Amino acid sequence: MHFSAIIAAALTGLAVASPAHHFHDNQTAQIAYTYSNGTYTKPINVKVNSGTQKLPSTGIVTDVFVAPPFDGRHYVLTSCSFQAPTNKSLGAVSVRKPTTVPVHPPAAVGYVTCKSN
Ligand SMILES: *[C@@H]1O[C@H](CO)[C@@H](O)[C@H](O)[C@H]1NC(C)=O
Ligand SMILES: *[C@@H]1O[C@H](CO)[C@@H](O)[C@H](O)[C@H]1NC(C)=O
Ligand SMILES: *[C@@H]1O[C@H](CO)[C@@H](O)[C@H](O)[C@H]1NC(C)=O
Repeated sequence: MHFSAIIAAALTGLAVASPAHHFHDNQTAQIAYTYSNGTYTKPINVKVNSGTQKLPSTGIVTDVFVAPPFDGRHYVLTSCSFQAPTNKSLGAVSVRKPTTVPVHPPAAVGYVTCKSN
């Protein structure tokens, strides 16, 4: 009884220390696009604090999923701004956990800029 309690505690500690679905890179956010036809892309890595990156959606995007960098213990508060291929601003979001944000009005995305402190 005593023994199995210790194992349970150790397993719980392990699960908290290294959640399997998190990647431990505090400088990389992930972004996925949802299209107006309901399909979506795989998460694409975006470097944080590295200026504007080309991330063409090749279609009209209705929602963006933004997962901020995870430093091994916490998500890092990150703001990402989106621009159309013409560089028109499509708005910005600040996230401190993986979040899906609607794009109003839906638009093609060309560039992304992500920043954290
Ligand atoms: C990010 O990770 C690097 C290398 O592991 C570390 O030096 C730096 O302090 C970290 N920054 C933050 C904001 O956690
Ligand atoms: C949905 O739209 C995207 C972007 O226009 C396109 O790449 C994808 O092939 C479409 N998927 C379907 C199932 O129509
Ligand atoms: C939009 O901005 C990016 C990065 O700042 C730049 O490389 C690109 O040439 C610009 N495109 C247009 C159409 O102005």
